[in-house]
Amino acid sequence: MRAVFVSSPSPDDPLSVLEVGERPEPEVPDGWTTVQVRAVSLNHHDLFSLRGVGLPQERMPMVLGTDAAGLDEDGNEVVVHGVVASPGWTGDETLDPKRTLFSELYQGTMAERVAVPRRNLLPKPAELSFAEAACLPTAWLTAYRMLFVRSGLRPGQTVLVQGASGGVATALVVLGRAAGFRVWVTGRSEEKRAAALELGADRAFETGARLPERVDGVMETVGKATWGHSVKSLKPGGVIVTSGATTGFDPSAELNRVFFTQLSVVGSTMGTREELESLVQMCRVSGVRPVIDVELPLDQAREGFARMLEGRTAGKIVFTP
Ligand SMILES: NC(=O)c1ccc[n+]([C@@H]2O[C@H](COP(=O)([O-])OP(=O)(O)OC[C@H]3O[C@@H](n4cnc5c(N)ncnc54)[C@H](OP(=O)(O)O)[C@@H]3O)[C@@H](O)[C@H]2O)c1
Repeated sequence: MRAVFVSSPSPDDPLSVLEVGERPEPEVPDGWTTVQVRAVSLNHHDLFSLRGVGLPQERMPMVLGTDAAGLDEDGNEVVVHGVVASPGWTGDETLDPKRTLFSELYQGTMAERVAVPRRNLLPKPAELSFAEAACLPTAWLTAYRMLFVRSGLRPGQTVLVQGASGGVATALVVLGRAAGFRVWVTGRSEEKRAAALELGADRAFETGARLPERVDGVMETVGKATWGHSVKSLKPGGVIVTSGATTGFDPSAELNRVFFTQLSVVGSTMGTREELESLVQMCRVSGVRPVIDVELPLDQAREGFARMLEGRTAGKIVFTP
């Protein structure tokens, strides 16, 4: 079957190790089933995998991709929950120390077919296209959990989203606005800031700019490049929710500000199956839809990866096998 995969990592030149070609049909363990993939979305995780972050050489060749929408064995339209819990785990699977995403331990979703645990299948509502549904399990679910499960913030409060055009960032803007937050955004170009305003952000600022007032919460996926600004931008008692560090994991912690202004720093990762169900429902009842930048045939995946690597994003990049 056709697939997008990596056979050996390259920390410095990820595109050079991206392969689009033939891979064996998926192996299907007990309790698992096969999904015919109709759409899969690209996440920064896939670039990290090409660099070998969280994906050691001994697990390669590995098909990339953490989320998908498609058809189950009976032809039903499904969304694939991306967090695979370890056997016997009960409760919040994001807290399972042995949890894994597709393309980490098990082959990923950027292929014509993928094996998934049966419990990871959710019905795809007809109102959502396959491409829209494929954006939900990673970037959009991460944004949902950050805002509605982990932040402790209330509608009406002001949230700063670091980054304007990324997959998680655009989800934060759209979901935040739909839920009644005042959403401020930072973006690296005029074009990206304008696009964030189009999506519903109330204000958009240059990356690192001084804000007109401090905010109640900051949503962080950028990391080192914006951390100091995030800490400075919070009201006393405010909260930073962090789920990623695209530009580096080791900024100065700014502990003096954290304790003196009594900030909370809250980690967040992916979401549970139940939260994904709630997100799907939220899309259905509110009419919000994932922001799709471009849809490409799977065979043109390299173009999508290049766009993300160069920061040429405007929402989600979707591949269709
Ligand atoms: N923990 C989890 O479960 C989880 C889930 C999903 C994602 N993540 C992580 O979240 C991060 C974002 O993922 P994604 O798929 O949304 O990636 P993406 O689509 O490539 O978006 C990258 C974002 O980072 C911003 N950015 C990049 N370099 C920057 C810089 N030097 N200064 C300021 N902003 C910069 C971009 O801002 P502009 O718009 O201004 O260009 C953009 O909004 C990744 O690190 C990913 O691993 C974690």
